[in-house]
Amino acid sequence: MALKTRFTQAFGLDHPVALAPMAGAAGGALAAAVARAGGLGLLGGGYGDADWTFAEWDRAGDAPIGVGFITWKLTPAVLEAALMRGPRAVMLSFGDPAPFAPAIHAAAVPLVCQCQTLDHARAALDVGARVLVAQGAEAGGHGGARGTLTLVPEIADLLAARSPQTLLLAAGGIADGRGLAAALMLGADGALIGTRFWAAAEALVPEGFHGAAVAAGGDATVRGRTPDAARLLDWPEPFTIRTLRSGFTDRWSDDTGALRANAAARAAWAQAQAQGDAANGTPVAGESIGLIHDILPAAALLHRISSEAEQRLRCSP
Ligand SMILES: Cc1cc2nc3c(=O)[nH]c(=O)nc-3n(C[C@H](O)[C@H](O)[C@H](O)COP(=O)(O)O)c2cc1C
Repeated sequence: MALKTRFTQAFGLDHPVALAPMAGAAGGALAAAVARAGGLGLLGGGYGDADWTFAEWDRAGDAPIGVGFITWKLTPAVLEAALMRGPRAVMLSFGDPAPFAPAIHAAAVPLVCQCQTLDHARAALDVGARVLVAQGAEAGGHGGARGTLTLVPEIADLLAARSPQTLLLAAGGIADGRGLAAALMLGADGALIGTRFWAAAEALVPEGFHGAAVAAGGDATVRGRTPDAARLLDWPEPFTIRTLRSGFTDRWSDDTGALRANAAARAAWAQAQAQGDAANGTPVAGESIGLIHDILPAAALLHRISSEAEQRLRCSP
């Protein structure tokens, strides 16, 4: 018996799981692996770098993938080029989706909006999103302050009252069958998973970062602004980024202004990121690293998560 939900039915999937469109990490190979294994594979279009995004899209071959972008950096031209490729879905996170929603609807592509607050969820409904992702603060990468355990059912209640046909995915801290089963029990139609797939064989992640994540427990992450200062990125409020804690975050998290002014420290960070040096860099991962003990192909992970969830749900009283 497979786990069937409104999400699997609407998107023709075998598993109620979407790959988070992780900037830099969710390239074509990972998105294609998830899509071919029966999940929704979303390419990490991130900051809207067209060269990277479309080269990785080509690597996905004929797999039916979608794409996600960081809304406050997206341009109409990159969105238009993405829509020309007939994506399975477009996911927008972190910013106002209103300027982009009409083009996505005109292309008849499902719009997925990631939300960190109830106001974000209302704004996503206002622009006609097909799927909302309720993202809790346990998540790896950028996000807000609310926990998954309360945000998901609160948004589920909002949808039930205002737009019952809109689908809901839970995100933040889901890495195994227990998490997926819990998400479904909280009223979600599935889960959007980042960190667990970041630790997949196909992810574009340096070996050193994978090694550090497998060794780390869930206490070893920190949410802040250090990597954004190191990249001179001006992320809008209220978003901060969760990464592994490191010598770099210890040194600069309370002094991001000085980091922005220190070109040598920023260059050393960039080198550590490129080389997979977790002590001097900031691997982007969430609290679920404490549940991750192996690096496996994405298809094996997807099957394991889904069958564990199904078993848990079948055994629950
Ligand atoms: C390495 C990494 C990069 C991420 N980059 C993005 C991104 O570019 N756009 C986005 O919408 N979300 C991004 N996220 C957040 C995910 O969309 C998702 O909310 C999160 O991974 C879910 O929580 P989890 O990491 O506990 O599974 C990123 C997450 C990770 C771990």
